[in-house]
Amino acid sequence: DRSIKIAPSILSADFANFGAEIRAIEAEGCDWVHIDVMDGHFVPNLTFGPPAVKAFRPHVTTVMDVHLMIAPVDPYIEAYADAGADVLTAHVEATPHIHRTLQAIRGAGMKPGIALNPGTPAEAVEHLLDLTDLICVMTVNPGFGGQKFIDMTAKIRRLREMIRDRPIHIEIDGGVDPTTAPLVASAGADVLVAGSAVFRGGSVDNPGAYGDNIRAI
Ligand code: DX5
Ligand code: ZN
Repeated sequence: DRSIKIAPSILSADFANFGAEIRAIEAEGCDWVHIDVMDGHFVPNLTFGPPAVKAFRPHVTTVMDVHLMIAPVDPYIEAYADAGADVLTAHVEATPHIHRTLQAIRGAGMKPGIALNPGTPAEAVEHLLDLTDLICVMTVNPGFGGQKFIDMTAKIRRLREMIRDRPIHIEIDGGVDPTTAPLVASAGADVLVAGSAVFRGGSVDNPGAYGDNIRAI
């Protein structure tokens, strides 16, 4: 299924209201829900861990897409399976043993994703394609919402060539808005994460703005 999916990142939602925020973006027509897990070590910011993600689970009726920006990864895989992650994405830069990590994620019953920082080449995933369901191309340096988009269209095109007809999603994360979305979509991306561009101007009391923002992307 190559139709474009919008995955709002709840990093830009009201942290005191996650359940209501998730229900609002789903009611307004998002396709997936993107959950940014940060450890203050792999990236210079801290968000939440497995107990919080488990608490989000009953509010998500679409796809719970969990993006781990943590190192190490392997000790936490079971906890995210237990929390109910559908897709669990790890950074290739976070471990010398990404192959093992992807096998463990699939073995725990989730769809494995690989994320690539802006400085990491497409070729980093070349020998991992049979172990992954999603490649997340970071278009910002991970850690914060609301950063400026970094053009990675050449990398996206290269990945689309490498993937050929395998059923692997190419997800874009960082600085996606109505201006940058068409660039990455035409390069071959099919899942667009957007934080600030979805949540700006809205709230759980004014969720229509979320819907307008989603449709504008
Ligand atoms: C960045 C996160 C992103 C972030 C995107 O480290 O992985 O998911 O929330 O936020 P925007 O869309 O505001 O760049
Ligand atoms: Zn993310």
